[in-house]
Parts: sequence; C-alpha cells; structure tokens
Amino acid sequence: MSTILIIDDDDQLRKSFHKLLTEEGYSVESAASGESGLDVIGKKILDMVILDVRLPGMNGLETFRAIHEIEPKLPVIIMTAYGTTETAIEATKMGAFDYILKPFDIPDMLIVIKQALEAGRFMRSPVDMDVTPDKTTSHEAIIGRSSPMQDVYKAIGRVASTDATVLIRGDSGTGKELVARAVYQHSLRANNPFLVINCVAIPDTLLESELFGYEKGAFTGAAHRRVGKIEQAHGGTIFLDEIGDMPFSLQSKMLRLIQEKSIERLGGRENISVDVRIIAATNRNLEDAITNGRFREDLYYRLKVVTIWLPPLCRRAGDIPLLTEYFLSRYSAEGGMDNPGITDKAKKLLAEYSWPGNVRELSNVIQKALIFNRGAPLSPNDITQVISENRPREGTDENNLDQILHQIIQRELITNLRKNMFESCMDHFACILISESLKFTGGNRSRAAKLLGLSRPTLHSKIEKYRLKLETSVKEDRS
Ligand SMILES: Nc1ncnc2c1ncn2[C@@H]1O[C@H](COP(=O)(O)OP(=O)(O)OP(=O)(O)O)[C@@H](O)[C@H]1O
Ligand SMILES: [Mg+2]
Repeated sequence: MSTILIIDDDDQLRKSFHKLLTEEGYSVESAASGESGLDVIGKKILDMVILDVRLPGMNGLETFRAIHEIEPKLPVIIMTAYGTTETAIEATKMGAFDYILKPFDIPDMLIVIKQALEAGRFMRSPVDMDVTPDKTTSHEAIIGRSSPMQDVYKAIGRVASTDATVLIRGDSGTGKELVARAVYQHSLRANNPFLVINCVAIPDTLLESELFGYEKGAFTGAAHRRVGKIEQAHGGTIFLDEIGDMPFSLQSKMLRLIQEKSIERLGGRENISVDVRIIAATNRNLEDAITNGRFREDLYYRLKVVTIWLPPLCRRAGDIPLLTEYFLSRYSAEGGMDNPGITDKAKKLLAEYSWPGNVRELSNVIQKALIFNRGAPLSPNDITQVISENRPREGTDENNLDQILHQIIQRELITNLRKNMFESCMDHFACILISESLKFTGGNRSRAAKLLGLSRPTLHSKIEKYRLKLETSVKEDRS
C-alpha cells in the first residue's frame, strides 16, 4: 500500500484528503506545517508528498527544497491556488513532480497522484540483474542466464554510464520497462529525476503540452504558463514508453530535442536548453511504421544508435525454469504462504508452451495458479486452466465463433502435446457441433442429421463415439 503525506495548514482540506485517499486504498499521513511535515519524512517511509504552497512558518518552496534534499526521489505534488502559480512553477522546475490548481478536479488529481507514485516506483525500487531467485523476493529483478539475456546485461552495462539515447525493443511483456529502469539506475543520472511518458496512455492532443509545456494564452484554457515534463526532467532521464505510437506531428520536436538539446514551449518563442537523457521503448515494428509514413526516418536513426533487443521468451526457453522459480518464491512470499513448488510435469508443460505474452504471461500464470492452488505443488492442470483463461480474447464479439475455436485449439495445443492433435481438435469440434445440434432439435436425431448434412447412421455412430461427453444433452430419439 502506498503512503502519501499531505502537508497543508487547512484542517478541513487535510480531512477531505484523508477520507478521499483512504477510500482509494492509500495510507495517509498528514501535517499542518512544513516543519512537522519534514518531521514525518524523517521518521516514516513515504511514497509521495502533496504539499501546499502557502504555509505558515516555512513556506512551500522552502519545504520543497528541504524535502528534495533529504529524499531527492520522493515525488512531490504541489498544490497551488490562483496567484501562487509562479511558486509552483518554480518548484516544478526544481524537480517537483507536478502541480495542481485549487480548487481541483478529483479524477484529474487522482491521475496525477497515480503518475507520481509510478514515477517514484521507477526511481526507487531497484532492479537487480540475474540474481539467484531465492534472494530476490523483496527486489525486482531481471532474471535469465540464457545467452540472449547475457547480451542484454552487457548492453545495459555498456550504455548505462554514457549519455547515449537508448532504444529498447521487443514484443509486449519481454521486460522493456525493467531494462529501462536498470539503465537509469546504473547511470550517472541515477540520483536525478526519471520521468515516464507513456505515449499511448496520453491522448495525442495532450501529449504535446504534457511533454513540452505551454505559455499563458497558448490556447484557450491556458491560463498560466506550464512547465512540461521534458523541462522538469532537466539533468535527469526521460523514458518515452511506446514511442512507436508517438503522433507524427510530435516526432520532429523530439528529433530537435535529441539533436539540439532544446525545446520550445507551446505558444512560446524562447529556446529552452534542456539536458535530458532519453530512453525509449516500443513493441512496434518501426521499420514498417516508416514505410507506412507513421514514423520519421530521421528520428528512427537518431534513436536506434544504441538498441537493446529483448527476445521473445520462446527464444530463451532455457530461462523458463529460473523465471518460474523466481515468480513462485516472489508471489508466495507476497501472499504470505509457503512456496508450494511445482511438479515435474507442470515444469515440462511450462517449458514447452510458446508464451505469446512472454514473461508477463508467465508471471501472471504463476501468480494466478498460486491463488487457485493454495498449498499443493502446481500441477499441469492448474497451469493449463490459467493459461486458457488468460488468453487474450481476439475480436470484440464474445460469441464470435472464431474466437471460441481459437481458444479450443490453444487449449489443445497446450494439453495434448504428444497426442494426435489434429484428430483430437476435430473430435472436440464435432462433439460440440453434434451436441448443440441435438439440443437445438430437442434430441431429434433425424432433424439433427438433416441439419448437419449427415446420414442418420453416420450421426448415430458419431453419437456413439462421443457418447460419454454427450450423455447430458442427448435425449431419446423421439422421431
Ligand atoms: N527477465 C525478467 N525477469 C523477471 N521479471 C520479468 C522479466 N521480464 C519481464 N518481467 C516481468 O514481466 C512483466 C512485464 O515486463 P515489462 O512491463 O517490462 O514488459 P514490456 O516489454 O515493457 O511490455 P509492453 O510492451 O507490454 O509494455 C513485468 O511484471 C516484469 O517485472
Ligand atoms: Mg512496457
């Protein structure tokens, strides 16, 4: 559970915050002055601070400076009312995560809080590389000893301490975010801000102002100057996640940032120099995006100078046992239970499955299987059940025949590795088809045979063949 400290002298406001944030599942501490807030920071482990600008005694900016000195990676959101925005902007330039204007819109504020906590997590929870699984339960770790993963560790080691732009590529769930954090944490900028921008999560129209900021009057509603994330990350690192989805119109501004190390705020003429290191990640095929005119070639060449490729999990299947062990010990510790272990057959199944959702899928499967299977070692059955429930649903129509077929086939592929798969899939399908036809005709075999385009004896023999499975749905033939 994340703990948030509110520093504000307004009792009523502290109470409302307390109620709201507790309801949202956060643990809340509060302080009525900068001095007592700093006291709390010295004593408790916090994940974030919400700080009012106008405070009695030590003012907001002074308090921010002091917090930043004690805990440079603790995200701070500044609350400001009309008339004190300049101070808030000042604090943001000095490294405050963001500022919110009073009176605030609660859903917007909750979003900023979530983002700030996420940024804190990025900076503060260390990522180890390839440690023995039993030692890692408290830390996050990049697990894997396969030769492609060795190459990844070497690449991280080589680039981390340079200021080079790094592009991390690989399919969804391969660990790009973990690698980005490892690069940051091993870099010379590890004590400076790390800001994450997810280019997909922010609507196109907002992304530009979020990244580059704006001047007062730049557009309707721009009542104050706003410092963008890039400027906020000055001296630090910015992680552009899903860069393959960055709107084309913004890509030239990004290119300029990389080449000239400067930006312009929206509606501004001033050239602002910024010193940021860029780490970008994508699961998109950028080469295709260039061909289709969705990604700038010049930006691509700038980004790809140092590329770290994360191979899909099926290409490093040798790491599956180690990852399994790691997730087993991590999730059982998190759930406060003993590690139940896993049967050899289940291990074999995990090793042979193709893992289209990569490490994320393996992690989810182990986590869910542990919930279903309190105590006993994980069996193949636990695993296949979770895998088939987990499979992403293709298309939007739940009753889509193709989708159901895909699921049946996937389950067969998982469970019947050594059996005659073609026949068993066809049997499965025929069985459902006949069962449904009989239900539809109320058990009338002649009508069902006609509907299916089969002779009655053929239908009869198939019913015999699948008898066990049809017991419940086949009634006596009343024809
Ligand atoms: N080598 C690894 N060792 C341990 N955990 C891993 C490893 N790779 C990935 N994970 C875990 O798998 C999950 C997915 O990883 P991550 O978020 O880094 O994927 P991603 O490549 O950024 O995916 P996407 O493209 O969908 O954003 C995370 O919970 C991460 O901790
Ligand atoms: Mg990611």
